[in-house]
Amino acid sequence: MERMDFIKLLGFGGLAFASGIKGFAETAAETSERDFFFVQLSDSHWGFTGPKVNPDAGGTLEKAVAAVNNLSRQPDFVMFTGDLTHDTEDPRERRARMAQFKAIVSRLKVKDVRFIPGEHDAAADRGEAYRELFGDPTYAFDHKGIHFIALDNVSQPGSVLGPAQLDWLAADLRGLRPETPIVVFAHRPLFDLYEKWDWTTEDGDKAIALLAARPHVTVFYGHIHQEHHHMTGAIAHHAARSLIFPLPPPGSAPKRAPVPWNPSEPYKGLGLREVDVRSTLTSRFANPEVREIIQEFPVGPRP
Ligand SMILES: [Fe+2]
Repeated sequence: MERMDFIKLLGFGGLAFASGIKGFAETAAETSERDFFFVQLSDSHWGFTGPKVNPDAGGTLEKAVAAVNNLSRQPDFVMFTGDLTHDTEDPRERRARMAQFKAIVSRLKVKDVRFIPGEHDAAADRGEAYRELFGDPTYAFDHKGIHFIALDNVSQPGSVLGPAQLDWLAADLRGLRPETPIVVFAHRPLFDLYEKWDWTTEDGDKAIALLAARPHVTVFYGHIHQEHHHMTGAIAHHAARSLIFPLPPPGSAPKRAPVPWNPSEPYKGLGLREVDVRSTLTSRFANPEVREIIQEFPVGPRP
């Protein structure tokens, strides 16, 4: 487990994904960076109620926080990829939900916790409340040789990044060495997964075109409430599970309706997954070494 070229990614309550960070092994060898892992959590929809969909709607976020805190080794950081809260038309209630969400998440032992908005957080007021409570939804940071980019494809009307953000992305990429591994976080898929269900980003192809010039790009997103893996050229895209309810596979049902809660299989689709990608660090995600620990979620008593 101490191999220099080892990187571990965890998925929780929803995570989902399964690939190594492309290019990390080469960079790590060059820079002697330590291996590390981070956790992606997504679509907690704090404030959602629907007993038939999730009778423990007020409990799964706390269970995910507890599950992360119980890890024997803590992640370097946690990233929430949007729909932190469930949407409401009431601006005060929106802020109250965000504040409650923040209070729960503040119980994470790891203090490096980052966020991007989902459309449930940001669409009703173009991201105003989100920015008040969580700050700028578009940003970049570097960690142990990897360049991380957070994009906002939910705050503007329509499922778009918008020209200003695309310009920002182009400028950000210009400052990087060509071989730097890049990880992108977005709420909606950047590629056209299933437009009919809003599982797309209208101008996502422009972001992908900018990123396609780089050899090592991995995208993690949420929104679709299920694990999903897709390649656009050499770019790997991985969707996370939700913390609140699963959605059916793209186009598999007449409507994009939550998968009902099954009392005989509670929390199904909301579990915790650990993904060990040692064997696939420099390869595609097609054959990842996945170690499921889904049975460890939830960590508390079941309703
Ligand atoms: Fe969403």
